[in-house]
Amino acid sequence: MFSRRQLVTSILGTLATRTVAASVDPFLSSAGDDIFRIAFGSCVSQRRSQPVWASITAKKPDVFLMMGDGVYPEHEGEDLPVLESLERAYKHARTRSELRKFRDIVKTIAIWDDNDYGGSDIGASFEHRCRSRELFLEFWADPKEAKIRRRDSGIYGLWEFGEAGRRTQVIVPDLRFCRSEWAQTEHSVRAALGDNGFGPYKPTLDSGATMLGDAQWRWLEACLRRPAELRVFLSSIQFVPEGRGWESWSNFPLEKQRLLNSLREYDVDGFFILSGDTHYAEISLRENSGVGYPLWEATSSGLTESWPTPGPNPNRVGDAYPRTNFGMLTVNWLSDEPILVAEIFAEDGARLRQQAVLLSSLRSTN
Ligand SMILES: [Fe+2]
Repeated sequence: MFSRRQLVTSILGTLATRTVAASVDPFLSSAGDDIFRIAFGSCVSQRRSQPVWASITAKKPDVFLMMGDGVYPEHEGEDLPVLESLERAYKHARTRSELRKFRDIVKTIAIWDDNDYGGSDIGASFEHRCRSRELFLEFWADPKEAKIRRRDSGIYGLWEFGEAGRRTQVIVPDLRFCRSEWAQTEHSVRAALGDNGFGPYKPTLDSGATMLGDAQWRWLEACLRRPAELRVFLSSIQFVPEGRGWESWSNFPLEKQRLLNSLREYDVDGFFILSGDTHYAEISLRENSGVGYPLWEATSSGLTESWPTPGPNPNRVGDAYPRTNFGMLTVNWLSDEPILVAEIFAEDGARLRQQAVLLSSLRSTN
C-alpha cells in the first residue's frame, strides 16, 4: 500500500539525459514488489453516494488512476459561469467522506476529461483553462506535483514504479488543454445513421488538428524513449475503438497514427492502454496495430455514472458492461513469464470481465 511503499518519493532530474529530464520530470517510486496492482476508473459525480471507493480499497491496489471527470459542474438549475460551477463541484467533492477515506489509503494519480476541465467535449478553446487547471491541481495534486504539472501546454505527467526488469511507466497525457476542435458529422449523415449510438463527430484529415500540441508530443516521445518493461498509457478518451462518433483518438487519425509510428520507431514494448469517458466498461483489441504487437485497451467508466446503450466498437472483446464499474490491471512479475491481468468489476466488487495478457506478447516481433 502507499504508506509502506512511498510511491512518489522524489523528482528525478539528474539521472536521465539532460534533454529527456528537462521535458519529462518523472515522479518516481522506490517500490519493486512481486505483484503490482493498478486500480482505475473515471466519471464520479460528487452529488451521488460513492460506495465504489470501499470496493476498490478492498482490492488493495498500490495506486489508483483517476481517468477523468473527477467532478461534474454544479449548475443547480442556474445559468452559472462554468468556473463557478466547477468551484462549487470541487467544494462539494471535498465533503465526500468516502473519497477522503479512500485517498488517505490509496495513492491517486489523476487527469481530467471534459466535464472537470470546462464542459462537454471542449478542448483548447476553453477560455478559463488556466484557472480550471488550478482548481484541478489544488484538488488532486500535492504542491510538488502541482508545480511540475502547471505548464502552458497541459497538466500531463509521468510516473515510474519499480526497479530495472520490473519497471512500470504510467504515462498520463492531457487530452484537453491543447486539443483542436472536433469535426462535426453533417446533420443529414447523422439522421441517416439513426439512433444507433453514434456520436456527433467524424474523423478529420486536417494536418493542423492536434490532440496534444507540439510541446506535449515532444514530452510523450521522450517518455517512450525511457527504459521500461510495461507502459500504461492513461488516455481519458478511447484510443483503439473506431467509428463511434464520440470523442476518441480515432477522430484525429493522423494523431493516432503519429503515436503508433512513435511506438514502432522507438521500439516501444509493453504498451497497454487504459481509458475512461464512455460511462460503460469494455475491453478492446487491435491485432494488426502496425507496431509489431497487438494493442490492448481496458475502458472503465463510470464510478457513479452509467450509459445503458454502449456504442458500436468493432474492436470490442466480449460484451460491454453498461453499469457502474471500476478496473484493475495486475502485473505479476514473479511468474516465469510476467503476466498482466486486466479486470472489470461492478460497483460492489464483483468481477465481470477478466483478460490475461503475457507481457512477452507486447513485444515487437518484426
Ligand atoms: Fe463522464
